[in-house]
Amino acid sequence: MKKVLVCGAGGFIGGHLVKKLKKEGCWVRGVDLKENEFSISPADEFIIGDLTNQQTVREVLDMPFDEVYQLAADMGGAGYIFTGENDANVMHNSATINLNIIHQAHKAGAKKIFYSSSACVYPSFNQENPDSPLCTEDSAYPAMPDSDYGWEKLFSERLYLAFSRNYNMTVRIARFHNIFGPEGTWNSGKEKAPAAICRKIAEAPDGGYIEVWGDGKQTRSFLYIDECLEGVQRLMESDFAGPVNIGSEEMVSLNQLAEMIMKIANKPLTIKNIPVSHIGVRGRNSDNNLINEKLGWAPNAPLVQGLKKTYQWIREQVLCEMPAE
Ligand code: NAD
Ligand code: GDD
Repeated sequence: MKKVLVCGAGGFIGGHLVKKLKKEGCWVRGVDLKENEFSISPADEFIIGDLTNQQTVREVLDMPFDEVYQLAADMGGAGYIFTGENDANVMHNSATINLNIIHQAHKAGAKKIFYSSSACVYPSFNQENPDSPLCTEDSAYPAMPDSDYGWEKLFSERLYLAFSRNYNMTVRIARFHNIFGPEGTWNSGKEKAPAAICRKIAEAPDGGYIEVWGDGKQTRSFLYIDECLEGVQRLMESDFAGPVNIGSEEMVSLNQLAEMIMKIANKPLTIKNIPVSHIGVRGRNSDNNLINEKLGWAPNAPLVQGLKKTYQWIREQVLCEMPAE
């Protein structure tokens, strides 16, 4: 039976990954600072522990796992990583986690390790035009990410690749582009735009309005969790180390995203665009040429499909939290 370690198993992507691995018959150890918020993890073992602590990482990586998935990070959406207020923690916590894990994975003889990087590694100067951002994998250098979160991801990509070269470790790296779906954080201050806008629409009274940060013309692409995990699995089974984009090429503006969700909710509301400092890059879209070439596959499900499932789940959460009349 394949033995797998999932770091960050209490989080959004890690939680879904554990469920998938269990369905496929793996033995799974999960580790996180906290348990899953919205469901009970089916992991065979779930260790509550701090991966910035070297001793914890020694205990967690005490055998030669067949696969290690490193998803633990101090992260969040624009309201968390672009305000500047969390930069020191984001860099220190995530870099320490990655330094600890790759070192111990090497010592323990981990057979294959997956690292979750981000589209936030791409240079801000290539993402100034919302209609034609450049996010090919080779455009990451010369480097100029727009956030310290992105710089840490770039550093850690290099860390995993250095261990791969010098110690012959098998490493796979994906750059995720805004992953969304049910059981993602939706009201913690770390939520990303799809969850935040679903929540705002579900909470708004009929005929009311929602606030969308910025002028609403900034663009992004959003990838549903199931396709993200399929991409991760295909990458792990391939001979390609990466880094490779795992994202959707269906780019929309933030106001278009809000319009799509209002249509799903059957709730026409007014959009108020409000100026804030935490906007991030003007445009971002996955470029899927490399994933197509190396894996013979790329995500292609329409955004609206994933939004329908996500809106329904967030609406249920909102209704549960509303005070009884
Ligand atoms: P998440 O915040 O839901 O999950 C990360 C988990 O890491 C959390 O449960 C958190 O408690 C845990 N963690 C943080 N510090 C820890 C520590 N010191 N010790 C143990 N656990 C710790 O985020 P997610 O959306 O599931 O993202 C997973 C990974 O994918 C992260 O590395 C993230 O940077 C990367 N990523 C995600 C997206 C996205 O859109 N969701 C995009 C790009 C990259
Ligand atoms: N979070 C959030 N909440 N963003 C909003 C909102 C809102 O209510 N309204 C508008 N936005 C805008 C943000 O200002 C930003 O311009 C855009 O929507 C997208 O915001 P997020 O979804 O929060 O983050 P991001 O796409 O800039 O970055 C995310 O994706 C990266 C990978 O592509 C983050 O999750 C990063 O951590 C991740 O690496």
